[in-house]
Amino acid sequence: MVSNLIIFGTRPEAIKMAPLVKAFQAQGDSFVTKVCITAQHREMLDQVLEFFEITPDYDLDLMKPNQNLYTLTADIITGLKPVLEDCKPDYVYVHGDTTTTMASSIAAFYSGAKVCHVEAGLRTFNKRSPFPEEVNRSIAGSVCDYHFAPTQISEANLLNENIDKSKILVTGNTVIDALDFSVNKVNTENFRDAEIEGVSSMVDANKEIILVTGHRRENHGAGFIRICNALKTIAKTHPTAQIIYPVHLNPNVQKPVYDLLSDLDNVKLIKPLSYPAFVWLMEKSHLIITDSGGVQEEAPSLGKPVLVMRDTTERPEAVEAGTVKLVGTDEEKIVSEANRLLNSADAYQQMSKLHNPYGDGKACDRIVNFIKNL
Ligand code: UD1
Ligand code: UDP
Repeated sequence: MVSNLIIFGTRPEAIKMAPLVKAFQAQGDSFVTKVCITAQHREMLDQVLEFFEITPDYDLDLMKPNQNLYTLTADIITGLKPVLEDCKPDYVYVHGDTTTTMASSIAAFYSGAKVCHVEAGLRTFNKRSPFPEEVNRSIAGSVCDYHFAPTQISEANLLNENIDKSKILVTGNTVIDALDFSVNKVNTENFRDAEIEGVSSMVDANKEIILVTGHRRENHGAGFIRICNALKTIAKTHPTAQIIYPVHLNPNVQKPVYDLLSDLDNVKLIKPLSYPAFVWLMEKSHLIITDSGGVQEEAPSLGKPVLVMRDTTERPEAVEAGTVKLVGTDEEKIVSEANRLLNSADAYQQMSKLHNPYGDGKACDRIVNFIKNL
């Protein structure tokens, strides 16, 4: 029997690892699969666990208000030692590029387990953007034994780092598996979600919805002030649009957003949504403005144009396909690109084509089969 330990800590890792937990648990007796959460996030993580009906076997419960990278990294590594000693996994799975990813990959390596990186090989080649994620995923990449790359481009990045091709599998991104799970669950007959009902009562059916999210550390401070000023201009010049912004719980995001955007009639600032409610709102949106990694992957498969408030992206596939555009945190650029999409039906049509470079919903099955055949 093979022993697996799946470790994650933040909202996006939970969304993208949940279908892998399910896929391994569906294998019956050939695997024992345990879940450890660092709880780098708390409320935002718990609502994902609830939706996917996952009960962790280990909970390090580490989140502290306005936490810093130094203590979080140290706490994860020391917190995982007894977990790894108790669980004695053959394989440890980490995801993506957060502090949890980087620190867990090191702890798992120390334990002697084989370490598997899900969503491997994404690179901007700029170690300060995104910060600290570019370095986190590079460290995880050098520590891991097996690399599950979502696309051919991410595989090529790993090959360029001299990683043996036999250790890499192109799987598609597990976010599409999660999206499929969510759409199916929401469409079952008895499914009710208070948050979907709440957000649907807030949506003005006569207006074009602009959905906004943002949290990147390199945008904290001046970047967020420019972002909020741009959103204010868009709200004022487009009274027929409604901006809905579920605000990330990081205090460095909450403060500028609530200070600068609270008093506008057509801007709704709300708390982070449950995953199904957020997917529901993405589907209802006309345009998405974000600095999120995961949203860049989900929106093209829903046919929604995305303006990305970053200077670099490790997800060039949708940019190349024309459904995603980088606008940085330049106030004028955010406003002019949003204006173009709101004012020109042609410009909108060109960006809103359905496109799915990130997966077919079978990434987790490919990972399970790969491990079975080792
Ligand atoms: C983290 C990740 C980032 C990822 C993002 C997804 C790092 C360094 N950053 O950024 O890569 O893209 O999550 O959202 O790993 N907070 C709460 N409740 C929550 C979550 C956060 O109150 O459920 C607040 C806390 O005050 C916490 C702060 O947000 O200290 C920052 O959380 P942290 O995980 O350090 O950074 P994020 O900006 O969320
Ligand atoms: N998301 C969510 N509720 C929200 C906002 C986002 O469930 O209110 C989901 C979204 O669908 C995506 C993920 O959270 O799957 C993205 O998380 P985030 O932007 O925090 O992190 P990133 O992907 O940038 O690391």
